[in-house]
Amino acid sequence: MKKVIAIYPGSFDPPTNGHLDLIERGSNIFDELIVAILRNPEKAPLFSVGERRSMLEALTENYKNVSIDTFDGLTVEYAARVEASAVLRGIRALSDYEYELQMALMNRKLAPNLETVFMMPAEQYSYVSSRLVREVAQLGGSIAGLVPAVVEERVRGKLDPAVKLQNARQSKAGKR
Ligand code: PNS
Repeated sequence: MKKVIAIYPGSFDPPTNGHLDLIERGSNIFDELIVAILRNPEKAPLFSVGERRSMLEALTENYKNVSIDTFDGLTVEYAARVEASAVLRGIRALSDYEYELQMALMNRKLAPNLETVFMMPAEQYSYVSSRLVREVAQLGGSIAGLVPAVVEERVRGKLDPAVKLQNARQSKAGKR
Protein backbone atom coordinates (compact mmCIF):
# COMPACT_ATOMS: atom_id res chain seq x y z
CA MET A 1 0.00 0.00 0.00
CA LYS A 2 1.13 3.53 -0.77
CA LYS A 3 2.70 5.40 2.15
CA VAL A 4 0.80 8.53 3.17
CA ILE A 5 3.24 11.40 3.61
CA ALA A 6 2.02 14.62 5.22
CA ILE A 7 3.71 17.94 5.70
CA TYR A 8 3.09 20.20 8.67
CA PRO A 9 4.16 23.65 7.44
CA GLY A 10 4.54 26.68 9.67
CA SER A 11 6.81 29.29 11.19
CA PHE A 12 7.41 27.55 14.55
CA ASP A 13 8.97 30.70 16.03
CA PRO A 14 9.22 29.26 18.63
CA PRO A 15 7.81 25.71 18.67
CA THR A 16 5.08 25.48 21.34
CA ASN A 17 3.46 22.65 23.25
CA GLY A 18 0.51 23.07 20.90
CA HIS A 19 2.76 22.33 17.90
CA LEU A 20 4.20 19.28 19.65
CA ASP A 21 0.73 18.04 20.52
CA LEU A 22 -0.22 18.27 16.85
CA ILE A 23 3.00 16.57 15.72
CA GLU A 24 2.21 13.65 18.01
CA ARG A 25 -1.35 13.40 16.70
CA GLY A 26 -0.14 13.67 13.10
CA SER A 27 2.54 11.03 13.62
CA ASN A 28 -0.21 8.65 14.79
CA ILE A 29 -2.26 8.91 11.62
CA PHE A 30 0.27 9.47 8.83
CA ASP A 31 2.99 7.06 7.73
CA GLU A 32 5.43 9.93 7.53
CA LEU A 33 5.16 13.48 8.83
CA ILE A 34 7.52 16.23 7.69
CA VAL A 35 7.52 19.34 9.85
CA ALA A 36 8.38 22.04 7.32
CA ILE A 37 9.68 25.37 8.58
CA LEU A 38 9.00 28.28 6.26
CA ARG A 39 12.15 30.25 5.42
CA ASN A 40 10.71 33.73 5.21
CA PRO A 41 13.34 36.44 4.81
CA GLU A 42 10.75 39.23 5.19
CA LYS A 43 9.98 38.54 8.83
CA ALA A 44 12.28 39.46 11.71
CA PRO A 45 12.11 36.19 13.62
CA LEU A 46 13.06 35.57 17.24
CA PHE A 47 14.89 32.39 16.24
CA SER A 48 16.79 31.71 13.03
CA VAL A 49 15.51 28.89 10.85
CA GLY A 50 18.55 26.83 11.90
CA GLU A 51 17.75 27.33 15.58
CA ARG A 52 14.10 26.39 15.06
CA ARG A 53 15.18 23.34 13.10
CA SER A 54 17.56 22.12 15.80
CA MET A 55 14.96 22.67 18.56
CA LEU A 56 12.33 20.74 16.59
CA GLU A 57 14.80 17.96 15.79
CA ALA A 58 15.60 17.53 19.47
CA LEU A 59 11.93 17.68 20.47
CA THR A 60 10.82 15.05 17.95
CA GLU A 61 13.75 12.65 18.10
CA ASN A 62 11.58 9.93 19.64
CA TYR A 63 9.10 9.93 16.77
CA LYS A 64 10.56 7.63 14.16
CA ASN A 65 8.21 8.77 11.37
CA VAL A 66 8.71 12.52 11.95
CA SER A 67 11.40 14.57 10.23
CA ILE A 68 12.20 18.27 10.11
CA ASP A 69 12.85 20.25 6.95
CA THR A 70 12.78 23.86 5.73
CA PHE A 71 11.24 25.31 2.60
CA ASP A 72 10.50 28.51 0.76
CA GLY A 73 8.08 29.33 -2.03
CA LEU A 74 4.68 27.74 -2.25
CA THR A 75 3.65 25.08 0.24
CA VAL A 76 1.98 23.10 -2.56
CA GLU A 77 5.22 23.02 -4.55
CA TYR A 78 7.17 21.84 -1.55
CA ALA A 79 4.51 19.17 -0.90
CA ALA A 80 4.87 17.92 -4.48
CA ARG A 81 8.68 17.81 -4.16
CA VAL A 82 8.51 15.55 -1.09
CA GLU A 83 5.58 13.55 -2.55
CA ALA A 84 3.23 14.50 0.27
CA SER A 85 -0.48 13.93 -0.24
CA ALA A 86 -1.66 15.87 2.81
CA VAL A 87 -1.03 19.13 4.63
CA LEU A 88 -1.56 19.05 8.38
CA ARG A 89 -2.74 22.22 10.12
CA GLY A 90 -4.04 22.85 13.62
CA ILE A 91 -7.27 24.64 14.41
CA ARG A 92 -7.49 25.94 17.95
CA ALA A 93 -10.61 28.05 17.93
CA LEU A 94 -13.21 29.41 15.55
CA SER A 95 -10.98 32.44 15.02
CA ASP A 96 -8.40 30.22 13.27
CA TYR A 97 -10.97 28.75 10.95
CA GLU A 98 -11.41 31.57 8.46
CA TYR A 99 -7.70 31.99 7.74
CA GLU A 100 -7.13 28.24 7.62
CA LEU A 101 -10.11 27.68 5.33
CA GLN A 102 -8.87 30.37 2.97
CA MET A 103 -5.40 28.82 2.86
CA ALA A 104 -6.74 25.29 2.45
CA LEU A 105 -8.99 26.32 -0.44
CA MET A 106 -6.22 28.31 -2.14
CA ASN A 107 -3.91 25.32 -1.80
CA ARG A 108 -6.65 23.09 -3.23
CA LYS A 109 -7.03 25.47 -6.18
CA LEU A 110 -3.27 25.26 -6.79
CA ALA A 111 -2.98 21.50 -6.16
CA PRO A 112 -6.37 19.71 -6.31
CA ASN A 113 -4.97 16.38 -5.15
CA LEU A 114 -3.32 17.71 -2.01
CA GLU A 115 -5.66 17.37 0.97
CA THR A 116 -5.54 19.64 4.01
CA VAL A 117 -6.22 17.79 7.25
CA PHE A 118 -7.18 19.85 10.29
CA MET A 119 -6.57 18.54 13.77
CA MET A 120 -7.43 20.07 17.13
CA PRO A 121 -4.68 20.33 19.73
CA ALA A 122 -5.48 19.32 23.32
CA GLU A 123 -7.76 21.94 24.86
CA GLN A 124 -5.14 23.11 27.36
CA TYR A 125 -3.18 24.48 24.39
CA SER A 126 -6.14 26.07 22.63
CA TYR A 127 -4.97 29.59 23.47
CA VAL A 128 -1.24 29.03 22.90
CA SER A 129 0.40 30.69 19.90
CA SER A 130 4.04 31.45 19.07
CA ARG A 131 3.18 35.14 18.76
CA LEU A 132 1.69 35.32 22.27
CA VAL A 133 4.55 33.27 23.71
CA ARG A 134 7.06 35.78 22.26
CA GLU A 135 5.04 38.73 23.53
CA VAL A 136 4.52 37.37 27.06
CA ALA A 137 8.22 36.47 27.37
CA GLN A 138 9.35 39.88 26.11
CA LEU A 139 7.13 41.56 28.67
CA GLY A 140 8.45 39.48 31.54
CA GLY A 141 5.60 36.95 31.92
CA SER A 142 6.09 33.25 32.49
CA ILE A 143 5.85 30.93 29.48
CA ALA A 144 6.29 27.77 31.57
CA GLY A 145 3.89 25.05 30.43
CA LEU A 146 3.27 26.76 27.10
CA VAL A 147 6.49 25.63 25.46
CA PRO A 148 8.83 22.71 26.19
CA ALA A 149 11.44 23.42 28.89
CA VAL A 150 14.30 23.55 26.34
CA VAL A 151 12.44 26.15 24.31
CA GLU A 152 11.66 28.16 27.46
CA GLU A 153 15.37 28.29 28.22
CA ARG A 154 16.26 29.30 24.66
CA VAL A 155 13.61 32.05 24.66
CA ARG A 156 14.99 33.37 27.93
CA GLY A 157 18.46 33.43 26.38
CA LYS A 158 17.15 35.58 23.52
CA LEU A 159 15.57 38.27 25.63
CA ASP A 160 16.91 41.77 25.75
CA PRO A 161 19.29 42.20 28.76
CA ALA A 162 17.00 44.94 30.16
CA VAL A 163 14.04 42.55 30.07
CA LYS A 164 16.14 39.85 31.73
CA LEU A 165 17.09 42.26 34.54
CA GLN A 166 13.47 43.29 35.01
CA ASN A 167 12.37 39.63 35.06
CA ALA A 168 15.03 38.77 37.64
CA ARG A 169 13.89 41.71 39.83
CA GLN A 170 10.27 40.67 39.51
CA SER A 171 10.98 37.08 40.48
CA LYS A 172 13.12 38.28 43.43
CA ALA A 173 10.32 40.59 44.59
CA GLY A 174 7.86 37.70 44.24
CA LYS A 175 9.99 35.58 46.58
CA ARG A 176 10.05 38.23 49.35
O1 PNS B 1 2.80 29.13 11.31
P1 PNS B 1 2.09 29.94 10.30
O2 PNS B 1 2.78 31.28 10.14
O3 PNS B 1 0.62 30.07 10.55
O4 PNS B 1 2.23 29.17 8.88
C1 PNS B 1 1.76 29.73 7.69
C2 PNS B 1 2.23 28.95 6.47
C3 PNS B 1 3.73 28.73 6.48
C4 PNS B 1 1.54 27.59 6.45
C5 PNS B 1 1.78 29.75 5.21
O5 PNS B 1 2.20 31.06 5.33
C6 PNS B 1 2.34 29.18 3.91
O6 PNS B 1 1.91 28.14 3.47
N1 PNS B 1 3.34 29.89 3.32
C7 PNS B 1 4.03 29.45 2.14
C8 PNS B 1 3.66 30.30 0.92
C9 PNS B 1 2.37 29.82 0.32
O7 PNS B 1 2.22 28.69 -0.11
N2 PNS B 1 1.37 30.72 0.32
C10 PNS B 1 0.04 30.43 -0.13
C11 PNS B 1 -0.73 29.71 0.95
S1 PNS B 1 -2.41 29.61 0.56
